[in-house]
Amino acid sequence: MSFRHWRVEEDQNVSTITFDTEGANANTLSQEALDELAKILDRLGAMELEGLIIRSAKGSFIVGADVNEFRQIDDSARAADLARTGQHIFGRIASLPFPSVAAIHGHCLGGGLELALACTYRIAREDEGTRLGLPEVKLGIHPGFGGTVRLPPLVGDLSALDLMLTGRTVSARQARKLGLVDEIVPERHLLHAAQAFIAKRPRPRRARWWQRLPALAPLRKPVARLLERRVRAKANPDHYPAPYRILELWRQQAGQEEEARSLGEMLAGRTSRNLVNVFLLGEELKRRGKKHQHGIERVHVVGAGVMGADIAIWAAARGFYVSLQDKNPEILARAVKKAYGFYKKKLKQPRAVQEAMDRLMPDLAGDGLQRADLVIEAIVEKVEAKRNLFAEVEARVPAGALLATNTSSIPLEDIAKSLRDPTRLVGLHFFNPVAQMQLVEIVRGAQSSDAALNRARGFTVALDRLPLDVKSSPGFLVNRVLMPYLIEAVTLVEEGHSIADVDGAATDFGMPMGPILLADTVGLDIALSVAEELSGPLSIKVPQRLRDMVAAGSLGKKSGRGFYSYDKKGKPVDPGTRNPTHAPLTERLILRMVNEAVACLREGVVADVDSIDAGMVYGTGFAPYLGGPMRYAETLGDVGICNTLRRLAQEYDKRFEPDAGWSQRDLFQHQLLAKG
Ligand code: NAI
Repeated sequence: MSFRHWRVEEDQNVSTITFDTEGANANTLSQEALDELAKILDRLGAMELEGLIIRSAKGSFIVGADVNEFRQIDDSARAADLARTGQHIFGRIASLPFPSVAAIHGHCLGGGLELALACTYRIAREDEGTRLGLPEVKLGIHPGFGGTVRLPPLVGDLSALDLMLTGRTVSARQARKLGLVDEIVPERHLLHAAQAFIAKRPRPRRARWWQRLPALAPLRKPVARLLERRVRAKANPDHYPAPYRILELWRQQAGQEEEARSLGEMLAGRTSRNLVNVFLLGEELKRRGKKHQHGIERVHVVGAGVMGADIAIWAAARGFYVSLQDKNPEILARAVKKAYGFYKKKLKQPRAVQEAMDRLMPDLAGDGLQRADLVIEAIVEKVEAKRNLFAEVEARVPAGALLATNTSSIPLEDIAKSLRDPTRLVGLHFFNPVAQMQLVEIVRGAQSSDAALNRARGFTVALDRLPLDVKSSPGFLVNRVLMPYLIEAVTLVEEGHSIADVDGAATDFGMPMGPILLADTVGLDIALSVAEELSGPLSIKVPQRLRDMVAAGSLGKKSGRGFYSYDKKGKPVDPGTRNPTHAPLTERLILRMVNEAVACLREGVVADVDSIDAGMVYGTGFAPYLGGPMRYAETLGDVGICNTLRRLAQEYDKRFEPDAGWSQRDLFQHQLLAKG
């Protein structure tokens, strides 16, 4: 019998089945792969075997269920049935009359880990590439192939809940410590170790008795309450129900049937559908970027301030050789110190830290230019300074070097004026903080060549960031859509609303941070300069209050005082209490953003509505459970939005007038994810 996704071999009464998804780089548990697995189990069940080994022929064991299939599911009964099918197949592995071993390397996630949990033993390759976890909660669901039931008895209740509630992944070594795997071995011993487990049949691992204490009836309720409090600090139950469901299933000591039913509800719910969409948008941006060879090894960054330092530090962490130039040696020294702190925290192992430090060279004289494959400019936001710099850069770099600017607001065409070859200049617009914000806007200037843009896209993916194509126009996509929202927030404060009310309205809606706190964090001087830059083309009225504060040196967090006051640790002091207000704060804030997004579509700043959603979620953290501003707009319906905008325009000001783009249906297309 032959299969499309699995290979089956028998040797000395041990069957080894190798997962090798046809036509894909990674193994996912699609319906088809699961059906085949069921057939294989039919056959194995009829044989007299000593044991079964499950392994993968790809770079990873199994990365999870096939998320693309989630999109086709819209009813909870069907979703629950799919979970039952998976549970049934894994249940058959668990009840085979001979031991089974999962031989794990690379990623073993979600349904993949649930499959491994159904095996008698788990052995993992001991290296940095191995990661195990149950990240379902990040997609608004929970494990559904028996994972919520099998994990606690194996690793203990608190560890199991921690893994499921956070969705975090663990290394092979951590997994061994937790008891998630039985043994970790170097690559060459993986199969051998699996065979040894089958031959020796040690007693399968269980959690220690004290690790199961929280599950005892008298303790369960208070433990659940405590954990719920922690979850509540991070996730609003109305927006993100899955972690609460995980706790509830545990509190009830639910079995697989309840798990399946609950998963069905989660999977068909709004939050999961939107989170899955957001995830797929990110994957699609990566996939498109990956198609392009970047040919970049050496990166030269000019300007070691807030952005330049972080870009350089990140690029060196990702394996690039980076020279970092600044005219000020103290700023360079500060950047090197920051790099050391960052690598120690992120890379942990002293050797990896040292290697990353060795790849990052402070470079006062700009010697790195001579060998650079890519130059990223991140100096002050002044067109003259940038032009002068690029003229010098062009004279010193190799002929094939790609040139990029991190400008937030200056049209590329203006910067390119000093270049002999303007086709090699693109925008690589990173977001602050670079280590957290996944998006990079790839800015196409009027003269940027396709070859240059392709290299920039490929490089961005190599940095593990998401490249989003945008046209060179004021504010590109993200700042342009964000700015009307920030300005509206300041206007509301000017009108007399408290900052607690304004920020609260936004965070209640699901924004990661209120707009006033965001402005303070970015720096009011920077917010003001971007607002002024956009005020001409976008007819944004810059509030006087913002100008006054910057003139008075209240620059936000960095100066200890902005709209909020900050303590020495940079925490806002007493944001004030919220008053019940009936003013349409949320509408005014969010609809300004949505309306501007439609203007961006009309002007072709980005190609489609998916690009807006990807940009706003990955570039600003726009309420992921809503899937992005355009998906949110779709759920409200454009007629309703336009009516509300018109009402606000009458009540407040013409800035709320619906953009002309609302009446052009052909603008509203889902191209990134063609099936919308
Ligand atoms: P910054 O003021 O922190 O850093 C600029 C650095 O460039 C300073 O260290 C300065 O000494 C150095 N510098 C200036 N002229 C130079 C020259 N000719 N040669 C070498 N070094 C020079 O500025 P920041 O905030 O890092 O911004 C840099 C660029 O990134 C700007 O174009 C800005 O619009 C853009 N950007 C800023 C973001 C932010 O949140 N701060 C976000 C995204 C883009």
